[in-house]
Amino acid sequence: MRSMLFVPADSEKKLGKGLETGADALILDLEDSVAAANKAGARATARAFLEAHVPSADRPLLMVRVNALDTGLTDDDLQAVVAAKPDAIMLPKAESGADVVHLDAKLNALEALAGIPEGHVKIVVVATETARAVFNLGSYQGASPRLSGLTWGAEDLSADIGSETNRASDGRHTEPFRIARSLCLFGAVAAGVQPIDTVFPAFRDSEGLRRECEEARRDGFTGKMAIHPAQVAVINEVFTPSAEAVAEAHRVIAAFAANPSAGVVNLDGEMFDRPHLTRAERLIARLGR
Ligand code: COA
Ligand code: MG
Repeated sequence: MRSMLFVPADSEKKLGKGLETGADALILDLEDSVAAANKAGARATARAFLEAHVPSADRPLLMVRVNALDTGLTDDDLQAVVAAKPDAIMLPKAESGADVVHLDAKLNALEALAGIPEGHVKIVVVATETARAVFNLGSYQGASPRLSGLTWGAEDLSADIGSETNRASDGRHTEPFRIARSLCLFGAVAAGVQPIDTVFPAFRDSEGLRRECEEARRDGFTGKMAIHPAQVAVINEVFTPSAEAVAEAHRVIAAFAANPSAGVVNLDGEMFDRPHLTRAERLIARLGR
């Protein structure tokens, strides 16, 4: 998944529009973008949307962001949508791998009731929304075979720690948020799941978005969430490996294949060793997804 577009689930209009954006996934949001009074209506709208579009072959992945486990709303959210077979549930404000174990158990029960194969609905976690959560980013490994991605959020974390802002005047995240971002990357890779970069809220600033996407790709993130249709094309472009990167990866793999006992090879005057091979293989593996 390169691009994951948030769509407030109480807006039929935006849901319809979301399908035409070219996003790899839509995140039907029942959480922060939906006011308390609209939660019930949003659940019904999300369910109807899933029922209408999950069966079609040519569609983006469809996931639902539910309300956090401590809100008392999560079970109603899950009951409304799981039977319509979303590809994944996004869990916000997760505090640790234990929250994933908890959600996994709820999904087991709901899948059984709905006659859906166990494990069908995957889990993506927003894993940095409180200070406590940041200290638990190493706890996701082995939490559930459903877990398929870890992402991070700066807005709720600012509120939790009392920061005046999470971005400096140049638009880049400030130090506490860069730490959360890096730990999310390490936590995702340690857990063997996709590291997904957070949203870029200034949706008219496409140059700023491009820079943030490029920095995320440089560091190891393989996709990014969007909040506006205009962001999807930039994200897809930056997170699609370039022809040059793919060609270079094939050259590295071929050089090691030709010298199976070599720990290190010389490619046109540059040294490539085993970590380069791992990186090349990862990039090629990503193309198939
Ligand atoms: N998904 C689908 N369609 C969207 C969209 C989204 N996330 N954001 C905007 N659109 C649509 C609008 O409805 C509008 O459609 P129209 O041309 O048919 O009228 C078109 O794209 C252009 O939108 P624009 O006028 O530029 O912005 P807006 O004022 O309508 O919306 C936001 C701005 C921020 C309210 C909107 O982008 C949004 O709701 N984003 C998602 C917010 C969210 O889910 N946040 C939670 C995660 S952080
Ligand atoms: Mg939030």
